[in-house]
Amino acid sequence: MRIGVLTGGGDCPGLNAVIRAVVRKGVSTYGHDFVGFRDGWRGPLEGLTMPLGIPEVRGILPRGGTILGSSRTNPFKIENGVEQIKNNLGAMGVDALVAIGGEDTLGVATKLHGLGVQVVGVPKTIDNDLNATDYTFGFDTAVNIAMEAIDRLHTTAESHHRTLVVEVMGRHAGWIALHAGLAGGANVILLPERNFDIEQVAGYVEKRFQHQYAPIVVVAEGAQPLDGQMVLHNQELDAFGHVRLGGIGQWLAEQLEAKTGKEARTVVLGHIQRGGTPTAFDRVLATRLGLHAIDAVNDGDWGKMVALQGTDVVRVPLVEATKELKTVPLERYTEAEVFFGS
Ligand code: F6P
Repeated sequence: MRIGVLTGGGDCPGLNAVIRAVVRKGVSTYGHDFVGFRDGWRGPLEGLTMPLGIPEVRGILPRGGTILGSSRTNPFKIENGVEQIKNNLGAMGVDALVAIGGEDTLGVATKLHGLGVQVVGVPKTIDNDLNATDYTFGFDTAVNIAMEAIDRLHTTAESHHRTLVVEVMGRHAGWIALHAGLAGGANVILLPERNFDIEQVAGYVEKRFQHQYAPIVVVAEGAQPLDGQMVLHNQELDAFGHVRLGGIGQWLAEQLEAKTGKEARTVVLGHIQRGGTPTAFDRVLATRLGLHAIDAVNDGDWGKMVALQGTDVVRVPLVEATKELKTVPLERYTEAEVFFGS
């Protein structure tokens, strides 16, 4: 078979590990041939390719980002986009696709599968918000980066008796905030799944100062106050209809300073959470997902996504993975509340 591989959406550490595993097993075990599609769905749409064989995947296991490039291109938003993809795949003799992506990229894969394209999906995102898989690779790395930042912020916050607000990514899911906040010993963690009461947050901050420690407040970019709105960079939507989040950390610091009388500053971790080398957990997960994805392709098991369930990698229908977001259940948040303000 000739197999196309693409990576779409926001990049994350571990993408290269998947590409490497798919190609290494695909060539050495099954004798398949590969073509790399550049920049997500833009690759098959515009016929942008690069060679993808064993020499191209040597040495990429620890590298962050993606050697294929990425984009948030949505072929369903482009006139004749789907026909163009089908024509290009046919002209290049590509029999099947391995699509590595999150909600949006795999949403496109699901629809294309319904239209006759032979595709297998691999879940990725630092947000960990894909259904049907317990974890996505990239998440563990992002959490570790945020945890390390929080560890460092504790010492400087305490030296200056300041509140430090750490804004983390995650879009509409609070997984990064919850895990990084728990691992880093945050004074309070604020998630998109539960609107927060600013008076209560100010109370937690006060209490922490009373204990002679400075508070670290971890806030997910999608969190919002009880009587307020999500903070947006601007009103523009991307090709998948997403708004660009960010700014809640600054708003929160201003409110906390005004309410507690103690200086408050904000650190926005932003794309640092998506950059650099993957953790061992993410390298292993990404590698295993890649190995199972090429098995699914070899079996002709189209329309499936490989997923981590417990410690096993299984195949699930793509449609299961993309029908709704996996957000933080309230009972998981409640577990963390015991540490708030103490
Ligand atoms: O989905 C991954 C993610 O990093 C989100 O956490 C964040 O909201 C978004 O992508 C940012 O996207 P971009 O890099 O396109 O601004």
